[in-house]
Amino acid sequence: MSTPTNLFWICVFSALLQSLALTQDGLTLLELKHSLNDTKNGLSDWVISDENPCQWTGITCHQGDQRVQEINLPYMELGGGISPSIGKLSRLQRLALHQNRLHGLIPNDISKCVELRAVYLRANYLQGGIPSNIGNLTLLNILDLSSNTLTGAIPASLGHLIHLKYLNLSTNFFSGEIPNFGALSRFKNDSYIGNLDLCGQQIHKPCKTSLGFPAVLPHAESDEAAGK
Ligand SMILES: *[C@@H]1O[C@H](CO)[C@@H](O)[C@H](O)[C@H]1NC(C)=O
Ligand SMILES: *[C@@H]1O[C@H](CO)[C@@H](O)[C@H](O)[C@H]1NC(C)=O
Ligand SMILES: *[C@@H]1O[C@H](CO)[C@@H](O)[C@H](O)[C@H]1NC(C)=O
Ligand SMILES: *[C@@H]1O[C@H](CO)[C@@H](O)[C@H](O)[C@H]1NC(C)=O
Repeated sequence: MSTPTNLFWICVFSALLQSLALTQDGLTLLELKHSLNDTKNGLSDWVISDENPCQWTGITCHQGDQRVQEINLPYMELGGGISPSIGKLSRLQRLALHQNRLHGLIPNDISKCVELRAVYLRANYLQGGIPSNIGNLTLLNILDLSSNTLTGAIPASLGHLIHLKYLNLSTNFFSGEIPNFGALSRFKNDSYIGNLDLCGQQIHKPCKTSLGFPAVLPHAESDEAAGK
């Protein structure tokens, strides 16, 4: 029966629920938490009963709209993986998850966090490649992926990141030629230490052709050397 009185209370009640409900960014963080293995219970204050996640451990919000601005959870002994849900945090500027025990892939959806300026994922067990559309993160200043188990080629799109001023891909298993243009021509060998199958000018290691000859020889002798 929806008498006027009942309707009134239904409206009051649903308005109340609305005002108490956790923000969408808060719900997204709970999705991220769900894919992590928080053995030390460091995220125990991430609870659905809050209105927003702005006081949660490791979280900083933008002042006006209370969207999530930073995730700072280094040295938390977090296992598990980074959920693709992270792509929904469209106002995220800093992601610091270094020195944990994260496994799995760096989700492609991270490229939807178009305000990202700093990404610190050093010293985890992340696998797979660098998302190829990482070049979409045009505001990126800092990218530290060192000391993981990442593989594959270094995506050329990194060269488009004109604001990039710190890059560290050291101690992984990257391979192939380091693209040498744009931002990627600025970083030297100390950005690539310990990736034995990388080659290129930045690390003073010529790439070989399939015949075993250096692909880039200084002069026209390359034709002779290749027996042409
Ligand atoms: C979480 O980590 C603990 C300790 O490393 C491990 O024993 C447990 O199996 C992990 N749980 C899951 C669901 O991976
Ligand atoms: C991201 O980059 C890919 C390829 O680099 C491009 O196709 C896509 O349109 C870009 N997305 C956005 C939102 O800029
Ligand atoms: C980087 O290259 C320079 C030579 O240009 C060399 O002196 C230095 O030892 C190299 N550093 C590393 C970490 O390989
Ligand atoms: C990158 O990380 C490696 C290993 O952690 C470190 O030795 C190197 O100095 C770092 N490079 C830069 C440019 O900071």
